[in-house]
Amino acid sequence: MSNLTEEEISAVQQSLMRLQQSYANFTEEFYQRLFRAAPEMRALFPEDMTEQARKLSVTLLSVISHLRNPAAVMHPLLALATRHVDYGAAQEDFDVVRVCLLGTIQELTPDGLSETELTGWDKALHSVQALMIDHAYPVAS
Ligand code: HEM
Repeated sequence: MSNLTEEEISAVQQSLMRLQQSYANFTEEFYQRLFRAAPEMRALFPEDMTEQARKLSVTLLSVISHLRNPAAVMHPLLALATRHVDYGAAQEDFDVVRVCLLGTIQELTPDGLSETELTGWDKALHSVQALMIDHAYPVAS
């Protein structure tokens, strides 16, 4: 997560603030988008998605708040990755999750995302994905 420039970190943090002020429940929108893109994933999740959406929102907020100090969120993120293996999340599923997250953020953030914000989000989400996959999914031999 340290591959973001200082400017990108500030931009991402600022845009998340904008997004949350207007759409506190933007993660619910994300799950709707995800299940439209990948309906087969719906069965892996609980029927009531309220709590799930809240947890995702808290996690994102925590990761983005700690972009200057990623070590602080490393342990919980690695544990989250390990739990995902049990949830039945496949390595290949991470791309669609990342793309749907970015799409939701881009669509719902008031005034959209600037180029710097978009690049920053893209880098941050790629880093989280890489970290989770490297930790929890063994390399195929
Ligand atoms: C950037 C990547 C991801 C993040 C940050 C993320 C975040 C979370 C969080 C915070 C939870 C709440 C439960 C917990 O803390 O253990 C969760 C649960 C879950 N996630 Fe993810 N997730 C990601 C990718 C994926 C992918 C690729 C899948 C594939 C289908 C997936 C499927 C699930 C499922 C099935 C649950 C649990 C539902 C349940 O039984 O309660 N997630 N995720």
